[in-house]
Order: sequence, then C-alpha cells, then structure tokens
Amino acid sequence: LAVSCTASNRTFPLGFKFGAATASYQIEGGWNATDKGESIWDRFVHEDPTRIPNNDNGDVACDSYNNWERDVEMAAELGLHFYRFSLSWSRILPTGFNNRISEDGVRYYNSLIDGLLARGIEPFVTLYHWDLPQPVQELSGWTNPLIVDWFADYARVAYALFGDRVKLWLTFNEPVVMCDGAYNTGLIAPGILNPDIGSYMCNKVLLMAHAKAWRIYDEEFKPKYHGKVSLANMWVWIEPATEDDKDLAELALQNLGGRYSHPIYSKEGGWPPGIEEVMAKNSFKKGYSKSQFPAFTKEEKDLVRGTYDFYCLNHYSTRFVRKAKEGETFGPFPIGDDEDIGGIMMLPENREVGASSGSVKYPEGMRRLLVWLKEHYGDIEYVIAENGFSTYAGLEDISRIGYHKDYLEQVLLAINDGVNVTHYTAWSLMDNFQWNDGYTYKFGLYEVDFTDPKRTRTPRQSAYYYASVIAQHSLDVATE
Ligand code: NOJ
Repeated sequence: LAVSCTASNRTFPLGFKFGAATASYQIEGGWNATDKGESIWDRFVHEDPTRIPNNDNGDVACDSYNNWERDVEMAAELGLHFYRFSLSWSRILPTGFNNRISEDGVRYYNSLIDGLLARGIEPFVTLYHWDLPQPVQELSGWTNPLIVDWFADYARVAYALFGDRVKLWLTFNEPVVMCDGAYNTGLIAPGILNPDIGSYMCNKVLLMAHAKAWRIYDEEFKPKYHGKVSLANMWVWIEPATEDDKDLAELALQNLGGRYSHPIYSKEGGWPPGIEEVMAKNSFKKGYSKSQFPAFTKEEKDLVRGTYDFYCLNHYSTRFVRKAKEGETFGPFPIGDDEDIGGIMMLPENREVGASSGSVKYPEGMRRLLVWLKEHYGDIEYVIAENGFSTYAGLEDISRIGYHKDYLEQVLLAINDGVNVTHYTAWSLMDNFQWNDGYTYKFGLYEVDFTDPKRTRTPRQSAYYYASVIAQHSLDVATE
C-alpha cells in the first residue's frame, strides 16, 4: 500500500514489530467443514439465534476457511511483521480430545502458516480464543479441573504439528473475559450464569491449564524450536475518580488483570493478596464457609509461578472507579466484578467514543498501564497483542487512524519511560464476528462485505495509514 511522509522524528526502536490480529471463530466460517467438531460458539448461536443481533453467527463469518490466501495477501499489503490468529481446537481435534487429529484442520493451518512464512510474515498463534469443543463443555468445560490435562494434550498436538514454524504462542486470549464474561452474565458462550462459583473456578483452572501448557512447551519443544509462550491478558486501565479512590483503583486493577498475572508473574505467586482478602470477607458475608476463591496448594502455586516467556496484553480503553455508596447497585461491569471490590466503574467523560459504547479513546491509559505493569511484573518483554477502535461501516475511518496514532504515541512514550515493548498488534486485520454484537461494529483495517458470498475485503484509510507507519517504522507519516 502507498506510503507518504512528513518531517519530524518519532521512530520505533530497531526490531520493534507490527502486526494485526484475528481469531478463529470470528473469521473462519466453515463451522462444520469436513470433520470439524462443534464448538461452544457454534452451539451458543444455533441453540438460540436471538442471542446475537440480527440472528447473526460465525457460520460463514469472513469465510477465511476458504479465503486464507487473501488474508495472507492483506497481511503482506500492510507489510506486517507478524499475523496473530487463533487455532480452532475443534477444527484440529474434532472430538475435543487427542484420539483423532483432523487432516483437513491440519491442512488448513499448515497452508495459512506456510503462506505467511512464504511472504516473510511471522505466525503468532493463540491456542484458545474462546471456542471450546462442545464435548469438553459437556464435561463442565473450564470449571472442571480435568480440563487442565485435556487442554495440555491439545497444546502438545499443536506444538508438535506447527512448532517447527510457529515461534510465538499464546495459550489463552483474555482469560478474564472467558471466565467472568461467561459466568457472571451468561451472555457469552457457554451461557452459564454462575457468578458465585463458576467464574472463580474457571479463573484457577485456566491458570493451571496455562501453566501446564507452558511447561510442556518449555520442556519438550523449546530445546528444539526455541519459541516463546505467554497468555494475553485483557486490561482496561483504571483511574481513581478522586484522590480517595487510589487504593480502590489499585484493587480494581488487581481484580481485573492481577488475578491472571500475579500468580504467574509475581515473585511470590498465588492470588493478589488484596483480592484474596476481599474475596474471603465477601464469601463469609454471603454465608459460604470458605472463600469463593479456590485456594492454591503450595505445589499448584509453584506450578503456575514463572510460566511465561514475555508479558502479553490486550488494551483498548480506560475506566474510572469510585467507592460505592451505601445501598448503591452495581454494574453492569461484569468483567473484573465491581461488586466484589465495592467500586463503581465509570466511562471516561468527554472523550471520543467508538461505535460500541465501551470503546472510549483514552490514549494516555496505554502508557500508564505499561508503566504499571513493569512496576508490578518486572523489567521483562511486553507484547501488545490487541489495540483498536470500533466504527460503523465505511472506508473513511479517520477516527481509527487517530486512535492508532495516539495510542502508538503513548507506546513510544512508555518505551522512553523504560518499558521494553517489542510488538504492537492492531485489532483487527479485517471486520469480523464481534461476539455478542454480531457484525454491528467494525474493527477492521480492511472492510469485509458480509453481503457478498465472496466476502470481498477492501482496505480502509486506516490500512493505508498503518502500512505507512510500518514501512517508515515511525509515526512520521501523513494521516490522510
Ligand atoms: C477482545 C477480543 O480478544 C476480540 O475477540 C474482540 O473482538 C476484540 N477485543 C474487540 O472487542
């Protein structure tokens, strides 16, 4: 794509990498192609189509199952250094278990990986982006501790199949959304409302599954393939509404991402202490005889601690938090439950808002978050695996350009502050199935025509802008 320059100098460090991301259920379609198994998202949207606006679903989505060559071409047009996508567990293991590996599933991902590498684009693979095999859900999914081994089996299969070419792996995408989003509201697959126990079980089980999958790579594959494994945490930056809310904001951050980071990245491991304390108190108040937070044994704590090769974050927006007043009702902020910490979450005021109401642009949150992460989890490598802005249809997406530009400026400032940020990923390469919002909001650098059976993709203005930034390795490019 075309490149144009202006003067001044805001250059990224040598070796800094740019990419774009997608996820299997959101783009692939081919939901029952050949022997692919059913996933919880297939079941969720088919069982009750009214769950999604316009009865939309991911049956066809961007049809990347058939259009992957165009996807690779787009990644090349943008000049991406890497392309982040996820594997569909049930496309590779139709039963959910490792008794049968789908030839077609393997063929599909091999073609995509080889296609990317042929263009010099690194594959960055997420093992799990929310599409659990339905048979595994029927055995209680992420609330059954046995899934730790089933996920580990799947991870081993994926590493063995693709690890010779894939060097960057994520076990999970946004675990807090998977657990809190699913069990606190029942509004996303598997649609089970069980906020008191479900989301906390899921939290712990998922950490154990991550740890096991990380250790399998570390022991069995790293010596020959030399890759890296982490998980992508979802972070909203949280500001205190007033001076008095400073401790609460810290607690809110711990509740949102700390529950998935402290056990892995802190020196001592285990739950963030403040949250553990609050949760125990809340549980007794509710009449439970022990904390709703499932405790870690010493062995479990040790198993989870240190299971990372880098820190990975998805970041879009900021919230303010203030103490709840006596008798005040909470939410809905179902992720990082505000009721648990007695805080009311609020959207930033007087800021640009995208097509979805939560999509509030607050660029300085990116820098503050990165600095906070370094303070808490150390001077390690930081990878931004998602950042993006929602709009409605149309190729002229000036607001998306402004969003990426302003957030990237903050990334540069964080780098100047001494945070070792090495990768930036735009969400998304193209418009796709936006979960509960169906196809209403668009996040794509490329627009996808969902009325066209070919699912034609067309670059938006933001695609040209991003390509210029990548080509110049700098923000010194024209925004129009
Ligand atoms: C988070 C998720 O990882 C992705 O699936 C989603 O589409 C985007 N952010 C935008 O909401």
